Amino acid sequence: EIDFFFPKQRTLAVIKPDAMNQHGENILEEIRGSGFSVTQLKEMVLSREMAEQFYKEHREKPFFGQLVEFMCRGPCMMLVLTKENAVEDWRAAMGPSDPDQAKTISPNSLRARFASDILHNAVHGSSDEQHAEEKIRFIFGDICTELAGDGETDTSS
Ligand code: TYD
Repeated sequence: EIDFFFPKQRTLAVIKPDAMNQHGENILEEIRGSGFSVTQLKEMVLSREMAEQFYKEHREKPFFGQLVEFMCRGPCMMLVLTKENAVEDWRAAMGPSDPDQAKTISPNSLRARFASDILHNAVHGSSDEQHAEEKIRFIFGDICTELAGDGETDTSS
């Protein structure tokens, strides 16, 4: 089985509140059509506290307040995407944070097509594997820290 040689990786993807109404279904279809397995999915409205925690790496940035406000203004779709090289491939599918830049260097990317500006930029994706695992645990809990279970359930803790 060829999969054995190309171990799968997970990333956390988010369809942000600005894209949920008009483009949510499209984005989900594109994700599924481009080789990612959606292994967890949940729609939720982030509380202010959760949004602050989610973006804690940016708490000193001048845009932090607006970012938190925006992220909890409506429902987000939280997704765990699984495939070989998921982190990097999902970042490539999103394109750069700023849609103006995205339109120039990556016109087919999701942000080139669906983002309005650098804040309202439609989608999120973890920047590396460690962040991916941390944010997946934060959003979905410890229940899915294993990529592939062996059928045994650890009930000891
Ligand atoms: P960042 O982690 O730099 O971008 P990315 O989402 O592409 O990994 O920033 C996180 C989010 O913060 C970004 O998606 C939108 C917002 N943001 C701004 O509103 N203004 C800015 O100048 C930057 C850099 C980011």
